[in-house]
Amino acid sequence: MKKAKTIKFKESVGIDIGSHSIKVVHLKRLHEGFKLLNYEIRPTVPHGVEYVPSDLRPDRHGPILVEILKTLRINPKKVQHLVSSVGGDNTSIKQIKTIFLPDDELESALFFEAKKHIPISGSDMVLDYQVIDVEEKTNNMNILLAAASKDLMNEHANALVTAGLSPNIVDIDALAVANSFSLNAFVEEGVYVLLNLGAHRTNMVIWGPGAKFFARDIPFGGYNFTRDIMRKRQMEWEEAENYKLEWGLMDDPSRESGQTISMLDISEKSTEDAIVEELRRSLRFYVKEAGNSDFRKLYIMGGTAKLKGLQEYLEEKVNIPTDTFMPFINVEMPEKFADKKDPQLALAIGLAMRLE
Ligand SMILES: Nc1ncnc2c1ncn2[C@@H]1O[C@H](COP(=O)(O)OP(=O)(O)OP(=O)(O)O)[C@@H](O)[C@H]1O
Ligand SMILES: [Mg+2]
Repeated sequence: MKKAKTIKFKESVGIDIGSHSIKVVHLKRLHEGFKLLNYEIRPTVPHGVEYVPSDLRPDRHGPILVEILKTLRINPKKVQHLVSSVGGDNTSIKQIKTIFLPDDELESALFFEAKKHIPISGSDMVLDYQVIDVEEKTNNMNILLAAASKDLMNEHANALVTAGLSPNIVDIDALAVANSFSLNAFVEEGVYVLLNLGAHRTNMVIWGPGAKFFARDIPFGGYNFTRDIMRKRQMEWEEAENYKLEWGLMDDPSRESGQTISMLDISEKSTEDAIVEELRRSLRFYVKEAGNSDFRKLYIMGGTAKLKGLQEYLEEKVNIPTDTFMPFINVEMPEKFADKKDPQLALAIGLAMRLE
């Protein structure tokens, strides 16, 4: 999704507004690559207040963004290159194939095409597309179609404007995940599975050089892991959240096992199993759709990628080598950030590195 005027810029700001936290990354552009100037991750729910996705108001983002910019000493009026993103149910991204069409016909044709593929009503849709390639044999075009609802785009712009910023390039989360990965990983061949594990959803992207692009959201994230702990260990929300941050999927050895753990109701699947099931389902679908099963690696990112034990669990169950994605290969890190590489920044970094 872009509505950009291309300008030469020396510094860029990437903003990932999540339902749980806002992530802002400030980069300096180098002759080649970027240097991290600063970053900030700030929850959008006050400390100690329970995060309940359905209770969250969209207008809480603007004031927090103001605070973050102040902390980072970024003057919103002087930001040269701002890239942010939207995600969730009111966005969609799909790779489609059409017959070859010249530029002047393509846009209106794609609008009609998009209505077939994308679950947003036509009059409420902002559409963007990118031609991936034209197949030599058939002359068919492979196109990446991205759409978001106008309401969502307006809500997003309002948060930025409240903070004194002028909305510029607005990407779709899944595309930004893929972009962060392609700019910061040594990708040669094969297909990669990327999971951006947030608070109430997980963006899943399957992609590789020359491989079909597939994206969907899995409706589970950190919130569901906290709920599991509350249920399984009979804890209140805050205690469970702290337990999660410290122990993740593991048992605290200082607690007597058996005493505090109630067996999960047999009908209730754990969040890690629900995610694994969705992952497997999507992989099967991808193999069938794209005819490609050359899965090389599974990369996890986002705040919930830090959940202890999750990486190992996914690797064992999905049977693809799994790593936590650290998006800093092409970002120079000053000494003071050396031990602060954080997969929760993956999306914001990818956004800030986007050139146009
Ligand atoms: N060290 C950690 N261990 C486990 N979970 C963590 C850790 N740090 C943060 N989290 C969890 O990560 C989640 C926030 O991650 P993130 O910022 O990626 O989400 P978000 O983008 O705000 O959410 P969404 O994309 O779902 O709207 C929260 O559920 C939080 O509890
Ligand atoms: Mg997120």
